[in-house]
Parts: sequence; C-alpha cells; structure tokens
Amino acid sequence: MSTIKSFDPETLETRDLHKLLLSAVAPRPIAFASTIDSKGNVNLSPFSYFNVFSSNPPILIFSPSRRVRDNTTKHTLQNADETREVVINMVDYSIVEQMSKSSNEYAKGVNEFTKTGLTEVNSLKVKPPRVLESPVSFECVVDNIISLGDNGGAGQLVIAKVVHIHVKNELLDSNNQIDPTKLDLVARLGGDWYSRLTKESMFTITKPKG
Ligand SMILES: Cc1cc2nc3c(=O)[nH]c(=O)nc-3n(C[C@H](O)[C@H](O)[C@H](O)COP(=O)(O)O)c2cc1C
Repeated sequence: MSTIKSFDPETLETRDLHKLLLSAVAPRPIAFASTIDSKGNVNLSPFSYFNVFSSNPPILIFSPSRRVRDNTTKHTLQNADETREVVINMVDYSIVEQMSKSSNEYAKGVNEFTKTGLTEVNSLKVKPPRVLESPVSFECVVDNIISLGDNGGAGQLVIAKVVHIHVKNELLDSNNQIDPTKLDLVARLGGDWYSRLTKESMFTITKPKG
C-alpha cells in the first residue's frame, strides 16, 4: 500500500512549492501569446498557466507570473496591460521546439517570431499578429487583469475575451467541430516534461444518461 507524505505550503521554499504544484497539476495546455507594446513591437511567449473558463462570454485566462528569481514582470503582461489585446495561439507538435525557444528571456522589444522563424499573419480584429503555423488561434481583447500578489511567483491573471477564432481547415469535420485526434496538441507537465496528445493516448467515455 502506498503511503502519503504531506506538505504545508507555508513551510516550503517558493521554488519547491512551484515544482510540486506544476508536476501535480498536469497536463496543462499552452497559450502561445502574441502581444504588442505601445510602440508596436511584437512579442510571442508561451504560458501553461492557461485554460478556457467561459463560453458565453468566451473567456480564456492565462497568467504571466512575477519571476521567482527577481520579482520582475514579463513583457507579455506589460504589453497586455498597455495595449489590451492578445492573440492566443495553440501549440501542436510541429512547433514545439520554436515555442520552447521563444521562452528565452529576450530583451524588451525583441520579436520572438524573428528569433524562432515562425510566421506573423495580420489578425482581423486586433493588432497583435497570429502564428501562421498554429492549428488554432484566438484573437482576444483583454477584459481584466487580476494580480494575485506582489511577491515573486505571484500569478497575474490576464482575462481575455475571444473576438475571433481561426482553425486550420483540415482539423474540422463537416459540422465545423475540431477532431481531437487530428490536433496533435502538446501539453506542459512538471520540470522539462511535455506530453503529446496522440490518438493512442486518447479514449472516449460516453456521457451518462439522464
Ligand atoms: C511551455 C512553457 C510554459 C510556460 N508557462 C509559463 C506560465 O504559465 N507563466 C509564466 O509566467 N511563465 C511561463 N513560462 C515562461 C515564459 O514563457 C518566459 O518567462 C518568457 O521569457 C516570458 O516572455 P516575455 O517576458 O517576453 O513575456 C513558460 C515557458 C514554457 C516553455
């Protein structure tokens, strides 16, 4: 029989608590967020504190946290606050290496599209470009930003309302629904681990009746 070890978050170093949380709460989808600053400089960075939280209104939330290392904020958060728009691109296996490269801590103003070789496409309703190679992209306006604290590691929730959706045609069935087995999404686990959503790793459960 397995035994249980218990932890009090108050007594853990933030770094260790961070690792425990991120290994246990997995897999997490990845928001590949494209933003611009007030001068029009483009930024592209990945965030796995991310999910969909509402369909009416359509709301996605992601969180560029304050750095544990030095308590600075991420360019994505600064841009989302400044210009109130973001494009959230989904990440499939074909662009996982470029996504990882874009998470380098480049200086402010550096365009990660250029650094990674990914292709900028003009959005229809917002100024930040979308990623051509992404299977699905959501053009969003920033509805609200909620700070969860002022210390290193504190999440900063960017609440983004979807105003336009782009989906690669080959992923859609005749009802314009996405076939999960064709999407080939990747997800973030703890540490350096990722997961690839292949058909072999999926199964269905029929909804209970009544
Ligand atoms: C797959 C992946 C997921 C990440 N998720 C987050 C996250 O949810 N929150 C966060 O603050 N940083 C996250 N990071 C780190 C940021 O991408 C990294 O700090 C990046 O340099 C921020 O860029 P920016 O300052 O241009 O916004 C993640 C990195 C990777 C590779």
